[in-house]
Amino acid sequence: MDFLDLLLKKRDGGKLTSEEIDWIVRNYVDGEVPDYQMSALLMAIYFNGMDGQETKSLTESMANSGGTLDLSRVTGFKVDKHSTGGVGDSVSLVLSPLVASLGMKIGKLSGRGLGHTGGTIDKLESIPGFQVDLSNEEFVSAVEDKGLAIMEHTLDLVPADQKLYALRDVTGTVESLPLIISSIMSKKIACSPDGVVLDVKVGKGAFMKSMDDATALGRGCREVGELFGLNVTALVTDMNQPLGNSAGNALEVEEAIRVLKGDVESDLAEVSINLAAELYLQSGGIDSLAGAVEEARRRITSGDALEKFSDMVEGQGGDPRIIDDFGFLPGAENERTVYASGSGYVEEVDALKVGRAAGALGAGRKEKGDVIDPGVGVRIEKRVGDEAHEGDPLARIYYNDDADLDRAVTLMEEAYSVADEKPEERELIKRRIR
Ligand code: URA
Repeated sequence: MDFLDLLLKKRDGGKLTSEEIDWIVRNYVDGEVPDYQMSALLMAIYFNGMDGQETKSLTESMANSGGTLDLSRVTGFKVDKHSTGGVGDSVSLVLSPLVASLGMKIGKLSGRGLGHTGGTIDKLESIPGFQVDLSNEEFVSAVEDKGLAIMEHTLDLVPADQKLYALRDVTGTVESLPLIISSIMSKKIACSPDGVVLDVKVGKGAFMKSMDDATALGRGCREVGELFGLNVTALVTDMNQPLGNSAGNALEVEEAIRVLKGDVESDLAEVSINLAAELYLQSGGIDSLAGAVEEARRRITSGDALEKFSDMVEGQGGDPRIIDDFGFLPGAENERTVYASGSGYVEEVDALKVGRAAGALGAGRKEKGDVIDPGVGVRIEKRVGDEAHEGDPLARIYYNDDADLDRAVTLMEEAYSVADEKPEERELIKRRIR
Protein backbone atom coordinates (compact mmCIF):
# COMPACT_ATOMS: atom_id res chain seq x y z
CA MET A 1 0.00 0.00 0.00
CA ASP A 2 1.06 3.55 -0.58
CA PHE A 3 0.23 6.20 2.03
CA LEU A 4 -0.22 8.96 -0.52
CA ASP A 5 -2.87 6.95 -2.43
CA LEU A 6 -4.82 6.44 0.82
CA LEU A 7 -4.46 10.09 1.75
CA LEU A 8 -5.78 11.21 -1.65
CA LYS A 9 -8.65 8.76 -1.37
CA LYS A 10 -9.72 10.27 1.96
CA ARG A 11 -9.12 13.82 0.79
CA ASP A 12 -11.47 13.22 -2.16
CA GLY A 13 -14.27 11.86 0.04
CA GLY A 14 -13.59 8.11 -0.36
CA LYS A 15 -13.94 5.45 2.31
CA LEU A 16 -10.94 3.62 3.73
CA THR A 17 -11.19 -0.15 4.18
CA SER A 18 -10.36 -1.92 7.46
CA GLU A 19 -7.12 -3.25 5.93
CA GLU A 20 -6.10 0.21 4.79
CA ILE A 21 -6.81 1.75 8.19
CA ASP A 22 -4.92 -1.01 9.96
CA TRP A 23 -1.95 -0.54 7.63
CA ILE A 24 -1.93 3.22 8.30
CA VAL A 25 -2.07 2.81 12.10
CA ARG A 26 0.65 0.11 12.19
CA ASN A 27 3.00 2.05 9.96
CA TYR A 28 2.44 5.30 11.82
CA VAL A 29 3.16 3.69 15.21
CA ASP A 30 6.29 2.02 13.74
CA GLY A 31 7.55 5.39 12.51
CA GLU A 32 7.27 4.46 8.80
CA VAL A 33 4.69 7.19 8.14
CA PRO A 34 6.01 10.65 9.02
CA ASP A 35 4.05 13.17 11.09
CA TYR A 36 3.62 15.56 8.14
CA GLN A 37 1.77 12.95 6.09
CA MET A 38 -0.28 11.77 9.04
CA SER A 39 -1.21 15.40 9.79
CA ALA A 40 -2.62 15.75 6.28
CA LEU A 41 -4.68 12.58 6.70
CA LEU A 42 -6.01 13.78 10.07
CA MET A 43 -7.10 17.04 8.43
CA ALA A 44 -8.80 15.11 5.61
CA ILE A 45 -10.67 13.07 8.26
CA TYR A 46 -11.50 16.28 10.12
CA PHE A 47 -13.19 17.72 7.03
CA ASN A 48 -14.65 14.58 5.42
CA GLY A 49 -15.44 12.53 8.52
CA MET A 50 -15.57 8.73 8.74
CA ASP A 51 -18.58 6.44 8.55
CA GLY A 52 -19.47 3.91 11.25
CA GLN A 53 -17.41 1.11 9.69
CA GLU A 54 -14.31 3.29 9.31
CA THR A 55 -14.64 4.57 12.89
CA LYS A 56 -14.98 1.00 14.17
CA SER A 57 -11.92 -0.12 12.19
CA LEU A 58 -9.85 2.83 13.40
CA THR A 59 -10.85 2.13 17.00
CA GLU A 60 -9.94 -1.56 16.66
CA SER A 61 -6.58 -0.91 15.01
CA MET A 62 -5.70 1.65 17.69
CA ALA A 63 -6.79 -0.68 20.53
CA ASN A 64 -4.53 -3.40 19.07
CA SER A 65 -1.54 -1.09 18.55
CA GLY A 66 0.21 -2.10 21.82
CA GLY A 67 -0.27 -4.13 24.97
CA THR A 68 -3.53 -4.62 26.83
CA LEU A 69 -4.32 -4.33 30.51
CA ASP A 70 -5.09 -7.76 31.88
CA LEU A 71 -7.49 -7.41 34.80
CA SER A 72 -8.81 -10.98 34.46
CA ARG A 73 -7.42 -11.84 37.90
CA VAL A 74 -9.63 -9.16 39.46
CA THR A 75 -12.93 -10.53 40.75
CA GLY A 76 -16.25 -8.68 40.73
CA PHE A 77 -17.67 -6.00 38.43
CA LYS A 78 -14.84 -3.95 36.91
CA VAL A 79 -15.59 -0.43 35.80
CA ASP A 80 -13.94 2.45 34.03
CA LYS A 81 -14.73 6.12 33.48
CA HIS A 82 -13.61 8.64 30.92
CA SER A 83 -14.11 12.38 30.69
CA THR A 84 -13.70 14.37 27.50
CA GLY A 85 -11.83 16.95 29.58
CA GLY A 86 -12.87 19.94 31.59
CA VAL A 87 -11.80 22.59 34.08
CA GLY A 88 -12.09 22.11 37.84
CA ASP A 89 -12.95 18.52 37.02
CA SER A 90 -11.67 16.27 39.80
CA VAL A 91 -14.47 13.72 39.27
CA SER A 92 -12.04 10.77 39.00
CA LEU A 93 -10.73 11.51 42.52
CA VAL A 94 -14.26 11.34 43.92
CA LEU A 95 -15.74 8.69 41.64
CA SER A 96 -13.01 6.05 42.04
CA PRO A 97 -13.31 5.66 45.84
CA LEU A 98 -17.07 6.07 45.55
CA VAL A 99 -17.53 3.14 43.14
CA ALA A 100 -15.12 1.06 45.25
CA SER A 101 -17.28 1.80 48.30
CA LEU A 102 -20.28 0.51 46.29
CA GLY A 103 -18.49 -2.82 45.85
CA MET A 104 -17.25 -2.36 42.30
CA LYS A 105 -13.58 -2.52 41.24
CA ILE A 106 -11.84 0.27 39.38
CA GLY A 107 -8.34 0.21 37.93
CA LYS A 108 -7.99 3.58 36.30
CA LEU A 109 -5.30 4.59 33.85
CA SER A 110 -5.14 8.36 33.72
CA GLY A 111 -3.20 11.07 31.98
CA ARG A 112 -1.54 14.39 32.71
CA GLY A 113 -3.00 17.76 31.92
CA LEU A 114 -2.27 19.47 28.64
CA GLY A 115 -3.60 22.81 27.47
CA HIS A 116 -6.30 24.34 29.64
CA THR A 117 -7.59 21.07 31.12
CA GLY A 118 -6.14 19.35 34.19
CA GLY A 119 -4.99 15.74 34.49
CA THR A 120 -5.72 13.27 37.27
CA ILE A 121 -2.09 12.12 37.45
CA ASP A 122 -0.79 15.65 38.09
CA LYS A 123 -3.41 16.11 40.78
CA LEU A 124 -2.50 12.85 42.54
CA GLU A 125 1.20 13.66 42.32
CA SER A 126 0.55 16.78 44.38
CA ILE A 127 0.01 14.39 47.33
CA PRO A 128 3.49 13.98 48.86
CA GLY A 129 4.85 10.50 48.14
CA PHE A 130 1.96 9.33 45.92
CA GLN A 131 3.23 6.85 43.29
CA VAL A 132 1.59 6.89 39.87
CA ASP A 133 4.04 4.51 38.15
CA LEU A 134 3.03 1.12 39.55
CA SER A 135 4.07 -2.18 37.99
CA ASN A 136 1.24 -4.16 36.41
CA GLU A 137 1.43 -6.62 39.30
CA GLU A 138 1.17 -3.85 41.93
CA PHE A 139 -1.71 -2.24 40.06
CA VAL A 140 -3.74 -5.43 39.62
CA SER A 141 -3.15 -6.44 43.28
CA ALA A 142 -4.29 -3.01 44.51
CA VAL A 143 -7.46 -3.19 42.41
CA GLU A 144 -8.25 -6.68 43.71
CA ASP A 145 -7.41 -6.00 47.38
CA LYS A 146 -8.54 -2.41 47.88
CA GLY A 147 -11.06 -2.10 45.04
CA LEU A 148 -9.24 0.81 43.39
CA ALA A 149 -5.95 2.06 42.00
CA ILE A 150 -5.05 4.90 39.66
CA MET A 151 -1.83 4.93 37.69
CA GLU A 152 -0.33 6.72 34.74
CA HIS A 153 -1.20 5.58 31.26
CA THR A 154 1.96 3.92 29.93
CA LEU A 155 3.29 4.16 26.39
CA ASP A 156 2.87 0.41 26.04
CA LEU A 157 -0.93 0.68 26.07
CA VAL A 158 -2.60 2.06 22.92
CA PRO A 159 0.56 3.82 21.66
CA ALA A 160 -1.39 4.83 18.53
CA ASP A 161 -3.58 7.12 20.62
CA GLN A 162 -0.65 8.65 22.46
CA LYS A 163 1.09 9.50 19.16
CA LEU A 164 -2.04 10.59 17.35
CA TYR A 165 -3.37 12.67 20.24
CA ALA A 166 -0.11 14.62 20.51
CA LEU A 167 -0.21 15.24 16.75
CA ARG A 168 -3.89 16.27 16.77
CA ASP A 169 -3.17 18.67 19.60
CA VAL A 170 -0.78 20.68 17.43
CA THR A 171 -2.54 20.35 14.06
CA GLY A 172 -6.02 21.65 14.88
CA THR A 173 -7.61 18.21 14.51
CA VAL A 174 -8.76 17.41 18.05
CA GLU A 175 -12.42 18.35 17.51
CA SER A 176 -13.31 15.55 15.09
CA LEU A 177 -16.03 13.10 16.08
CA PRO A 178 -14.51 9.89 14.62
CA LEU A 179 -11.07 10.84 15.96
CA ILE A 180 -12.39 11.50 19.47
CA ILE A 181 -14.56 8.35 19.48
CA SER A 182 -11.67 6.13 18.37
CA SER A 183 -9.30 7.81 20.84
CA ILE A 184 -11.60 7.26 23.81
CA MET A 185 -12.95 3.83 22.91
CA SER A 186 -9.60 2.29 21.90
CA LYS A 187 -8.36 2.99 25.44
CA LYS A 188 -11.47 1.45 26.98
CA ILE A 189 -11.35 -1.65 24.75
CA ALA A 190 -7.68 -2.26 25.62
CA CYS A 191 -8.68 -2.53 29.31
CA SER A 192 -11.94 -4.50 28.71
CA PRO A 193 -13.95 -3.43 31.77
CA ASP A 194 -17.46 -4.75 32.49
CA GLY A 195 -18.99 -1.29 32.63
CA VAL A 196 -18.02 2.16 31.36
CA VAL A 197 -19.32 5.67 32.00
CA LEU A 198 -18.38 8.64 29.87
CA ASP A 199 -18.64 12.20 31.07
CA VAL A 200 -19.13 14.14 27.84
CA LYS A 201 -18.60 17.80 28.60
CA VAL A 202 -20.49 20.42 26.62
CA GLY A 203 -20.01 24.18 26.59
CA LYS A 204 -17.39 26.88 26.38
CA GLY A 205 -14.70 25.00 28.31
CA ALA A 206 -15.27 21.71 26.43
CA PHE A 207 -14.24 20.31 23.04
CA MET A 208 -17.92 19.87 22.22
CA LYS A 209 -19.58 23.29 22.14
CA SER A 210 -23.13 22.21 21.17
CA MET A 211 -25.59 19.66 22.55
CA ASP A 212 -25.90 18.06 19.10
CA ASP A 213 -22.16 17.42 18.90
CA ALA A 214 -21.94 16.21 22.50
CA THR A 215 -24.90 13.86 21.99
CA ALA A 216 -23.40 12.52 18.77
CA LEU A 217 -20.14 11.84 20.62
CA GLY A 218 -21.90 10.02 23.46
CA ARG A 219 -24.00 7.96 21.02
CA GLY A 220 -21.00 7.22 18.81
CA CYS A 221 -18.96 5.94 21.76
CA ARG A 222 -21.88 3.83 22.95
CA GLU A 223 -22.36 2.29 19.50
CA VAL A 224 -18.68 1.50 19.04
CA GLY A 225 -18.55 0.10 22.59
CA GLU A 226 -21.48 -2.20 21.80
CA LEU A 227 -19.66 -3.62 18.76
CA PHE A 228 -16.85 -4.69 21.11
CA GLY A 229 -19.17 -5.99 23.84
CA LEU A 230 -18.69 -3.00 26.16
CA ASN A 231 -21.60 -1.58 28.14
CA VAL A 232 -21.27 2.21 27.86
CA THR A 233 -23.45 4.91 29.42
CA ALA A 234 -22.71 8.54 28.63
CA LEU A 235 -23.82 11.61 30.57
CA VAL A 236 -23.65 14.96 28.81
CA THR A 237 -22.71 17.51 31.48
CA ASP A 238 -22.32 21.28 31.53
CA MET A 239 -18.87 22.81 31.09
CA ASN A 240 -19.87 26.44 30.64
CA GLN A 241 -18.39 27.13 34.04
CA PRO A 242 -15.76 25.06 35.89
CA LEU A 243 -17.30 21.99 37.49
CA GLY A 244 -15.67 22.52 40.87
CA ASN A 245 -14.57 25.74 42.53
CA SER A 246 -10.85 25.08 42.12
CA ALA A 247 -8.48 24.83 39.16
CA GLY A 248 -4.99 23.75 40.18
CA ASN A 249 -3.59 20.44 41.31
CA ALA A 250 -3.40 20.46 45.14
CA LEU A 251 -6.43 22.76 45.27
CA GLU A 252 -8.46 20.18 43.35
CA VAL A 253 -7.30 17.34 45.60
CA GLU A 254 -8.45 19.40 48.57
CA GLU A 255 -11.84 20.03 46.94
CA ALA A 256 -12.31 16.33 46.12
CA ILE A 257 -11.55 15.43 49.75
CA ARG A 258 -14.11 17.99 50.94
CA VAL A 259 -16.73 16.21 48.80
CA LEU A 260 -15.66 12.83 50.17
CA LYS A 261 -16.01 14.28 53.67
CA GLY A 262 -19.69 14.91 53.01
CA ASP A 263 -20.05 18.08 50.94
CA VAL A 264 -22.61 16.46 48.62
CA GLU A 265 -24.41 19.62 47.49
CA SER A 266 -21.76 20.82 45.02
CA ASP A 267 -21.82 20.36 41.23
CA LEU A 268 -18.67 18.23 41.52
CA ALA A 269 -20.48 15.90 43.93
CA GLU A 270 -23.61 15.83 41.75
CA VAL A 271 -21.77 14.70 38.62
CA SER A 272 -19.62 12.17 40.53
CA ILE A 273 -22.65 10.68 42.29
CA ASN A 274 -24.62 10.37 39.06
CA LEU A 275 -21.76 8.73 37.17
CA ALA A 276 -21.22 6.29 40.04
CA ALA A 277 -24.97 5.58 40.11
CA GLU A 278 -24.96 4.73 36.39
CA LEU A 279 -22.16 2.21 36.98
CA TYR A 280 -23.99 0.76 39.99
CA LEU A 281 -27.05 0.30 37.79
CA GLN A 282 -24.96 -1.39 35.08
CA SER A 283 -23.47 -3.74 37.69
CA GLY A 284 -26.94 -5.04 38.57
CA GLY A 285 -26.40 -4.10 42.22
CA ILE A 286 -29.65 -2.11 42.16
CA ASP A 287 -32.52 -1.72 39.70
CA SER A 288 -33.48 1.95 39.77
CA LEU A 289 -31.46 5.05 38.99
CA ALA A 290 -33.06 6.98 41.85
CA GLY A 291 -32.08 4.21 44.28
CA ALA A 292 -28.56 4.10 42.88
CA VAL A 293 -28.15 7.88 43.28
CA GLU A 294 -29.42 7.71 46.85
CA GLU A 295 -27.08 4.83 47.72
CA ALA A 296 -24.08 6.58 46.15
CA ARG A 297 -24.84 9.73 48.12
CA ARG A 298 -25.14 7.67 51.31
CA ARG A 299 -21.70 6.07 50.71
CA ILE A 300 -20.24 9.56 50.83
CA THR A 301 -22.11 10.83 53.88
CA SER A 302 -21.32 7.60 55.77
CA GLY A 303 -17.57 8.14 55.24
CA ASP A 304 -17.21 4.82 53.30
CA ALA A 305 -15.95 6.52 50.14
CA LEU A 306 -13.44 8.62 52.11
CA GLU A 307 -12.10 5.45 53.72
CA LYS A 308 -11.51 3.99 50.22
CA PHE A 309 -9.70 7.18 49.18
CA SER A 310 -7.51 6.92 52.26
CA ASP A 311 -6.78 3.23 51.44
CA MET A 312 -5.67 4.26 47.95
CA VAL A 313 -3.46 7.10 49.16
CA GLU A 314 -1.71 4.87 51.71
CA GLY A 315 -1.51 1.92 49.30
CA GLN A 316 0.21 4.07 46.66
CA GLY A 317 2.72 5.58 49.10
CA GLY A 318 1.00 8.94 49.66
CA ASP A 319 1.00 10.84 52.93
CA PRO A 320 -2.44 10.12 54.49
CA ARG A 321 -2.13 13.17 56.78
CA ILE A 322 -3.32 15.33 53.85
CA ILE A 323 -6.84 14.04 54.50
CA ASP A 324 -7.18 15.64 57.92
CA ASP A 325 -4.79 18.52 57.40
CA PHE A 326 -4.60 20.22 53.99
CA GLY A 327 -1.45 21.96 55.25
CA PHE A 328 0.43 18.80 54.22
CA LEU A 329 -0.48 19.50 50.57
CA PRO A 330 1.77 21.86 48.59
CA GLY A 331 0.56 25.45 48.66
CA ALA A 332 1.37 28.86 47.22
CA GLU A 333 3.10 31.72 48.98
CA ASN A 334 1.02 34.53 47.58
CA GLU A 335 -2.63 35.31 47.03
CA ARG A 336 -4.38 37.91 44.87
CA THR A 337 -8.13 38.54 44.91
CA VAL A 338 -10.21 39.45 41.86
CA TYR A 339 -13.11 41.75 42.83
CA ALA A 340 -16.43 42.51 41.15
CA SER A 341 -16.33 45.85 39.34
CA GLY A 342 -20.14 46.18 39.26
CA SER A 343 -23.21 44.78 40.99
CA GLY A 344 -25.74 42.23 39.77
CA TYR A 345 -25.73 38.48 39.17
CA VAL A 346 -22.88 36.35 37.87
CA GLU A 347 -23.94 35.50 34.34
CA GLU A 348 -20.87 33.59 33.27
CA VAL A 349 -17.61 32.10 34.59
CA ASP A 350 -15.83 31.13 31.38
CA ALA A 351 -14.25 27.72 32.10
CA LEU A 352 -11.73 28.07 29.27
CA LYS A 353 -10.38 31.33 30.70
CA VAL A 354 -10.26 29.93 34.24
CA GLY A 355 -8.29 26.93 32.94
CA ARG A 356 -5.91 29.22 31.07
CA ALA A 357 -5.43 31.42 34.15
CA ALA A 358 -4.47 28.36 36.25
CA GLY A 359 -2.15 27.26 33.42
CA ALA A 360 -0.48 30.69 33.28
CA LEU A 361 0.33 30.45 36.99
CA GLY A 362 2.12 27.13 36.38
CA ALA A 363 -0.63 24.62 37.22
CA GLY A 364 -0.59 23.27 33.66
CA ARG A 365 1.79 22.71 30.79
CA LYS A 366 2.29 24.77 27.69
CA GLU A 367 4.24 21.88 26.19
CA LYS A 368 4.65 18.22 27.03
CA GLY A 369 7.49 17.83 29.55
CA ASP A 370 7.04 21.26 31.20
CA VAL A 371 7.40 21.15 34.99
CA ILE A 372 4.25 22.19 36.81
CA ASP A 373 3.79 23.86 40.19
CA PRO A 374 1.37 21.68 42.22
CA GLY A 375 0.52 24.42 44.75
CA VAL A 376 -0.78 27.18 42.46
CA GLY A 377 -4.18 27.78 40.92
CA VAL A 378 -7.41 29.69 41.27
CA ARG A 379 -10.42 29.33 43.50
CA ILE A 380 -13.81 30.58 42.43
CA GLU A 381 -15.78 32.41 45.11
CA LYS A 382 -18.89 33.19 43.04
CA ARG A 383 -20.62 30.84 40.61
CA VAL A 384 -23.18 31.46 37.86
CA GLY A 385 -26.42 32.79 39.40
CA ASP A 386 -24.76 34.14 42.58
CA GLU A 387 -25.42 37.75 43.53
CA ALA A 388 -22.34 39.97 43.45
CA HIS A 389 -21.91 43.52 44.72
CA GLU A 390 -19.20 45.87 43.55
CA GLY A 391 -16.03 45.06 45.50
CA ASP A 392 -17.08 41.49 46.40
CA PRO A 393 -14.37 38.86 45.89
CA LEU A 394 -15.13 36.85 42.75
CA ALA A 395 -12.07 34.61 42.76
CA ARG A 396 -8.72 34.14 44.47
CA ILE A 397 -5.45 33.51 42.68
CA TYR A 398 -2.74 31.49 44.44
CA TYR A 399 0.75 31.94 42.98
CA ASN A 400 4.45 31.47 43.66
CA ASP A 401 5.96 33.23 40.67
CA ASP A 402 4.56 36.55 39.45
CA ALA A 403 5.96 36.29 35.90
CA ASP A 404 2.50 35.61 34.40
CA LEU A 405 0.41 36.92 37.28
CA ASP A 406 -0.97 39.89 35.31
CA ARG A 407 -2.10 37.59 32.52
CA ALA A 408 -3.82 35.30 35.03
CA VAL A 409 -5.56 38.28 36.68
CA THR A 410 -6.74 39.59 33.29
CA LEU A 411 -8.02 36.15 32.31
CA MET A 412 -9.94 35.82 35.57
CA GLU A 413 -11.42 39.31 35.16
CA GLU A 414 -12.45 38.43 31.61
CA ALA A 415 -13.85 35.06 32.73
CA TYR A 416 -16.54 36.78 34.78
CA SER A 417 -19.52 38.65 33.47
CA VAL A 418 -22.00 40.22 35.86
CA ALA A 419 -25.47 41.23 34.61
CA ASP A 420 -28.54 42.93 36.07
CA GLU A 421 -30.83 39.97 35.48
CA LYS A 422 -30.47 36.67 37.30
CA PRO A 423 -29.61 34.11 34.60
CA GLU A 424 -31.86 31.13 34.00
CA GLU A 425 -30.81 28.08 35.94
CA ARG A 426 -28.67 25.75 33.83
CA GLU A 427 -29.06 22.02 33.93
CA LEU A 428 -25.87 20.33 35.11
CA ILE A 429 -26.65 16.86 33.75
CA LYS A 430 -28.14 17.59 30.38
CA ARG A 431 -28.65 14.16 28.88
CA ARG A 432 -28.25 10.48 29.69
CA ILE A 433 -27.32 8.18 26.81
CA ARG A 434 -27.90 4.55 27.71
N1 URA B 1 -10.34 12.67 25.29
C1 URA B 1 -9.66 11.67 24.67
O1 URA B 1 -9.24 10.70 25.30
N2 URA B 1 -9.45 11.76 23.35
C2 URA B 1 -9.88 12.79 22.62
O2 URA B 1 -9.65 12.79 21.42
C3 URA B 1 -10.57 13.84 23.26
C4 URA B 1 -10.80 13.75 24.61
